[in-house]
Amino acid sequence: MVSTSHSVRRALRQQLAGDRLLGLRSVPMGLVAAPATPEHKTPVLAGVKASGGSSEKSALLSVIDETRVKGCRRCGLSETRAQTVFGQGNSDARLVFVGEAPGYEEDKQGLAFVGKAGQLLTKMIDAMGTSREEVYICNVLKCRPPGNRDPMADEILACGDYLREQLSIIEPEIIVALGAPAAKTLLHTGLSIGKLRGRFHDYFISGEPGSGKAIPLMPTYHPAYLLRSPGEKKKTWDDLQMVMAALGLVKRSG
Ligand code: URA
Repeated sequence: MVSTSHSVRRALRQQLAGDRLLGLRSVPMGLVAAPATPEHKTPVLAGVKASGGSSEKSALLSVIDETRVKGCRRCGLSETRAQTVFGQGNSDARLVFVGEAPGYEEDKQGLAFVGKAGQLLTKMIDAMGTSREEVYICNVLKCRPPGNRDPMADEILACGDYLREQLSIIEPEIIVALGAPAAKTLLHTGLSIGKLRGRFHDYFISGEPGSGKAIPLMPTYHPAYLLRSPGEKKKTWDDLQMVMAALGLVKRSG
């Protein structure tokens, strides 16, 4: 049987050869420019596991972004976004933060968590003894909902493949879900964030609850909520300390 890492490398080689033939500059180390997948169908890369290092993972992530997300028209948010926000950071991260959706600044800059909530997230990450460069940061939705309204169920469904693929490529040791939409989406639950936070849950890479490899997921409050309710910061810090203990991170002093 052909191993998945072998098939990933073969696909990368085919893409490079195809690009050369067409006289194209490669999509960053790209894979086959996968045709836009029919809505909610399993895309070409689903189930492909990048077992190689960070460059292979980063190539796979770039391909998803360049060939599918940037031109995505799966839901109505494509009509109102300025640009998509795929996510950024270390493609081989031990820790991934998943938020809700881009806001005004993110939509403008094309980067996740760069507004006010992002500044608080940066402080939280630094306090954990790591950095934005070492972790990976993304959202459930890759496009901004108008006026920063809550994501709708059909939008979450339409965007679901992208997040699942990101997580299965990065395969971090721990995921932190920031806020209710991220926690509920990843855990397939209707429980409130207040009930979910404070302990690790299992996120199943297969997307099927209970099947295949699980990654520990810590739900906690969203930084935007903490800006409105600073009294809840202590609970979030408690959650993050559990993550630090699991990863062996030491709080940065000062
Ligand atoms: N809120 C989110 O959930 N994600 C962002 O990227 C910014 C704000």
